[in-house]
Amino acid sequence: MSSPRYAALVGWGMAVPQRLVTNEELAQRIDTSDAWIRSRTGIAQRYVAGPDEPTSVLAAAAGRAALTRAGLGPEAVDTLIVATCTPDRPFPATACAVQRMLGMGRGAAFDLVAACSGFVYGLSVGTSLVRSGMSRVLLLIAADVFTHFIDWEDRNTCVLFGDGAGAVVLQVSAAPFGSLASNIGAWGAGETLMAVDVGGTLLPTTSELLSERRQYVYMNGREIFRHAVRGMCESAEQAVREAGVSFDAIRLVVPHQANVRIIEAVAKRLGLPMERVFVNLDRYGNTSAASVPLALCEAAEQGLIAPGDLVLLTAFGGGLTWGSSVVRWGCE
Ligand code: UT7
Repeated sequence: MSSPRYAALVGWGMAVPQRLVTNEELAQRIDTSDAWIRSRTGIAQRYVAGPDEPTSVLAAAAGRAALTRAGLGPEAVDTLIVATCTPDRPFPATACAVQRMLGMGRGAAFDLVAACSGFVYGLSVGTSLVRSGMSRVLLLIAADVFTHFIDWEDRNTCVLFGDGAGAVVLQVSAAPFGSLASNIGAWGAGETLMAVDVGGTLLPTTSELLSERRQYVYMNGREIFRHAVRGMCESAEQAVREAGVSFDAIRLVVPHQANVRIIEAVAKRLGLPMERVFVNLDRYGNTSAASVPLALCEAAEQGLIAPGDLVLLTAFGGGLTWGSSVVRWGCE
């Protein structure tokens, strides 16, 4: 009998755009205030991509950093997944541009669309590819330039989002590292609770739709909030149960960073003190798919997780989509 395969996380990296936008700057442009944004969301600032920072550029920077940390060259990667809902172009996949930028070989490269749950979806799919033997070294990048779809005159949405990219390298391992249990799910009936309607095949762009500002994101914040708390809790509980561990064994929870009040509600329902829950949305805002790996990278940089520790990742986003994974950090 062949020994079991795992997909260890052997490298990680992140990238954010150059331009920093504070709450104060937004308050000078629209009817909002630093106090409202901080108290209702926990966000103090975010990074916003410029014209020379499309999704592929941020993704490639994060991917390069992850490969460097793994001590691997781009030629070692046989599969590249870019989780994004803000691609460079409608087609081809942004992953193909990133493959070219990183100087990789001719392995598989594809995009995965699961909005803010993109990284957790990608980790689940990527781990399956490695564990099945289809891939030996897989680069998973989650990158979004969500601000491209923001109406900067809409205070309900423009204060919430920022841009960024995070990446991990998965490598086949005989020892039980990487994702030990994961689940992903979706509820398509909630499709229009948060969406960008215009620019696809459903509603191609017309000057009339543009004048109605329909090319931008809209969302029902209160409904999403409710679904997010329930979705992340149920999914996290399932992942912990299926990993065969208890919440006491989890060193750190790294949740999707949309709103600190959502994170606090999830922690409360799971019975976890906030000291064991990582939060960095004050500095980045909601970076969509990049949010979980940005937080994971910073938690690792800050020494909050050590090789062998169990980390619980949980995310929720448009679709509606959700997913969680219990990860044993590090490698042999
Ligand atoms: O990544 C996954 C997708 N998104 C999310 O997870 C977001 C989930 N939802 C949320 O985070 C919260 O619902 C929001 C932060 C979006 C909103 O917070 P809330 O506590 O649910 O506020 P609300 O929508 O109930 O609005 C309260 C008030 C409203 O005024 P009225 O109607 O009560 O007079 C809004 O017009 O706050 C007003 N408001 C603002 N005021 C100042 C909304 N945005 C702003 C703003 N500045 N930027």
